[in-house]
Order: sequence, then structure tokens, then C-alpha cells
Amino acid sequence: MSGFDKDWLALREPADRAARHKALVDRLVRHLQSTASPKLMDIGCGTGSTWRSLEADMPAEAAWLLLDNDGLLLQEAMRRIGPDRGVTVRQHDLNDIDGLPLDGVSIVTASALFDLCSEPFCAAFAQRLATAGSGLYAALNYDGIMDWSVTHPLDQKMVGYFNDHQRTDKGFGVALGPDATDCLAQVLSQQGYAVHIEDSPWLLDAASADLQQELLNGLRTPIVEMSGLPTDTVDEWLQFRLAAISAPGSSCRVGHKDLLALPD
Ligand SMILES: C[S@@+](CC[C@H](N)C(=O)[O-])C[C@H]1O[C@@H](n2cnc3c(N)ncnc32)[C@H](O)[C@@H]1O
Repeated sequence: MSGFDKDWLALREPADRAARHKALVDRLVRHLQSTASPKLMDIGCGTGSTWRSLEADMPAEAAWLLLDNDGLLLQEAMRRIGPDRGVTVRQHDLNDIDGLPLDGVSIVTASALFDLCSEPFCAAFAQRLATAGSGLYAALNYDGIMDWSVTHPLDQKMVGYFNDHQRTDKGFGVALGPDATDCLAQVLSQQGYAVHIEDSPWLLDAASADLQQELLNGLRTPIVEMSGLPTDTVDEWLQFRLAAISAPGSSCRVGHKDLLALPD
């Protein structure tokens, strides 16, 4: 198990889908339409959210390989996708970059993954991609920006502590957290890729109350760990934020960036 809960992934999937930058997906589609026998490999696939978001737009003959190190998430992915959809799954630890099955892969896709990864991982991954001649569509990388229409004086301090936690090791060495997109852009440009980046924020209102609640509850442990603040202070802020979800006109923005890198 990876510690990524399928219920959390299901809760965030509609917000992720709405947030993806459409023009970047269109550019990806145009690239694949001009590719013979397109093959996509989704890394850190979880339960297949990226495939569900993209498959309807992709060329009909596109083949997909979904890859994760969590066998339970892969089982859930296959259960939700069903047979005969041109999709196969493989259990693989991404830290084994040399062992990635990149032969014939036109585009590697990933969502909500690279902010977990380290700079050395991204550099080695970019080199491996370039050797294979594959492109990369890396969506929904958290960019460190979180704000609310109903404000509290501690908001940005708390987000700062959370961002500090995002930069701790998540299984790939010291994580890039909010710096992931900049780092990817740099290492991919160095490998000769044409890199396109767009914003893809979650824009959440009362209709996403469940997601906002889970998101806020998930901030507690990282903030307590990184801030050294008394738990009462953190809990008072959280109680304010949770109550504000249902305030009239209340909204929350969580910043992400989507990146598309195509071989030049
Ligand atoms: C935030 S989740 C995103 C899942 C999916 N892409 C989505 O958008 O719903 C990160 C995913 O990366 C996978 N992951 C984390 N570390 C990994 C590793 N070392 N090798 C392969 N997959 C990994 C987790 O199992 C999880 O499915």
C-alpha cells in the first residue's frame, strides 16, 4: 500500500477534472493525432483518474499502460475501468527509473504526482524520457497557493507550514512540493523539450464541501508537525476554516499547474 486512500482519490477526482487546463489537453490531443499507434503510460495512476479524464479525447486507437506501486489501487483501477478498454496495468516502483517500460511510449501522463518527487528524481526521469523520445503531460502539481474568500489572519502562516511539509520526503528523496513544475520545466528544457505550463487551480465552493472538509482535516497533522504551534491554536484555525465552508459566497482556491513537454 502507498498510503493514498482510494476514497480520497475519488473525492478529489471531479475537482481535478474541472481544474485541468483545457488548452493544454487540446495541444496534447493534437500531438497524439499526428502520432502513429499512440501509446500512453500513466505513472502514479492511483485508481485511473487521469485515464478517465482524458480517454474520451484521445485517438480511438490509443493504448494505455497504467503504472503504480500500490497493488490495491491498481486493482481498483481495473475494477473501475473494466476489461476491453485497451488498458493494462503494471505494479512498478517509480524509483526504478531504468526499469520503466518506456519502449514505444509516445506520452507519459501523471496527475498529482510530481510534487511528491525530488529534484534528482526529476532530473533522472527527464533524461530517461529524452532517451526514449517520449513526451510528458504532468497535470495538477500543487503550486503552494491556497487561499479563501473568507479570510483568517493565520491563513497564510498555516499554508506556509503545510508547504514546508510538502517539501519533506514522500518516497523519492526530499520532495519538491510547490517547486515541482519549475524544476520539471528546467530539467525537461535542458533535455531539449518544448515545455508549456498553465494554471489548473481547484476552485471550490459549497458544492465541494466534502472535499474542502477532507482537505482541511488533512492539513492538521502536517501543520502541527512543522509549526510547533500548540494544537489548540491549529484546531481553532481549523474550526474557523471548517465553519467558513458554509458561509454565504465562501470559496477556496488551491493552486496547481499543468505541464506539457513535447520532444522538439
Ligand atoms: C496523489 S496520488 C495521485 C493518483 C492519481 N494520479 C490521481 O490523480 O488520482 C499519487 C499516486 O502516486 C503513487 N505513487 C507514490 N509513490 C510511488 C512510487 N514510488 N512508485 C509508483 N507509484 C507511486 C501512489 O500510489 C498514488 O497512486
